[in-house]
Amino acid sequence: MLQRQCLCRRIPMNDLRLVTNTPGSEAAPRDRLGRALRDLRISVTDRCNFRCVYCMPKEVFGNDYVFLERKEILNFEEIARTARIFSGLGVEKIRLTGGEPLVRRSLERLIASLAAIPGLDLTLTTNGSLLDRKARSLKDAGLKRITVSLDSLDDATFRRMNDVDFPVTRVLEGIEAAAAAGLAPVKVNMVVKRGMNEDSVLPMARFFHNTGHILRFIEYMDVGHTNGWRMDDVVSAGEIIEMIGKEMPLEPLDPNYTGEVAERWRYKDGGGEIGVIASVTQAFCRDCTRIRLSTDGKLYTCLFATEGHDVRALLRGGASDAEIRAAIAGIWSKRADRYSEIRTEATVKLHKVEMSYIGG
Ligand code: GTP
Ligand code: 5AD
Ligand code: SF4
Ligand code: SF4
Repeated sequence: MLQRQCLCRRIPMNDLRLVTNTPGSEAAPRDRLGRALRDLRISVTDRCNFRCVYCMPKEVFGNDYVFLERKEILNFEEIARTARIFSGLGVEKIRLTGGEPLVRRSLERLIASLAAIPGLDLTLTTNGSLLDRKARSLKDAGLKRITVSLDSLDDATFRRMNDVDFPVTRVLEGIEAAAAAGLAPVKVNMVVKRGMNEDSVLPMARFFHNTGHILRFIEYMDVGHTNGWRMDDVVSAGEIIEMIGKEMPLEPLDPNYTGEVAERWRYKDGGGEIGVIASVTQAFCRDCTRIRLSTDGKLYTCLFATEGHDVRALLRGGASDAEIRAAIAGIWSKRADRYSEIRTEATVKLHKVEMSYIGG
């Protein structure tokens, strides 16, 4: 077993109760572990202009890799319709992901129709490469905030990790453009992989200290089946907090909401906050309220799923909103996923779907 019990602030695993849906509770379905459905992550493209070594290694995602064809991909009307149905089921936040969502043409049109859904927190995760020119139009379309992935400030390390020779300065310009456009606070996600960029942790912390941007460190995960993940490559959240805290003292903060994936910390000098996402060493499945819609319209109830549920067939097969809604509620009510809590040598080797396809 690589994984042990939940070490964090979250409820111990033996408190998990089996809760089933009662008739009429479709409006706010609960899964088999009593978890509500709150957070929908929509992958709008399986393509990306980066080839991050831990996500889309070039040996696999090379010139001959077959991406989804246009007809397989949900169009904006199909995505917006699905999103409205999800909103009726209790979803409060939608995050657009990819691949790289900003490579999808006219994304602003989709954002505008999602922004029209009342009461929704609408956000997006991007590699930042196109943000300097798109931040303003995204904001104008109705995007509320943004998360930018950035794995190092050291140009050579960053280029080595994105593997397409993309310079770090352009991403930094994108972050500033996003903040200037009002997509604030900007969150910055850094995946930490041992031997690759752990020496970038402190420089990143120093750089974003006092900027108002929220830097979060993500433990390297065994998503997909192509990145050759090994436990030895994981730099734990505990190590990261200790490393930063020695130089810039930190104190813990309460979560903003139940089920927040990042554990929050504040600089004692008032220089802002950081977060750690410890999905390997401190699993947070107990409060997982997330579902993922892939580019081709499959629903995945876990980031580490091996199979999805085909919603596109319903959308294109003449199903009514009520029928789709009942189908989704049924999928959620049967869900019992807790992959990160039960990770073993065997599960690491499973043929899981790729992060670039399912979204982060
Ligand atoms: P906000 O609080 O809304 O800003 O977003 P968030 O904290 O959910 O952050 P974000 O969506 O950027 O997620 C950060 C990272 O956490 C993702 O890129 C994943 O690497 C990881 N993550 C998010 N959700 C899950 C999850 O359900 N399971 C696991 N294992 N990891 C997750
Ligand atoms: N482990 C942790 N985070 C990952 N991401 C992509 N692959 C992995 C992985 N194997 C992150 C990206 C981005 C988000 C979409 O997910 O860096 O921040
Ligand atoms: Fe692209 Fe993001 Fe994957 Fe990097 S982590 S290859 S930017 S989808
Ligand atoms: Fe949710 Fe699966 Fe992540 Fe656990 S591993 S938090 S169940 S998506």
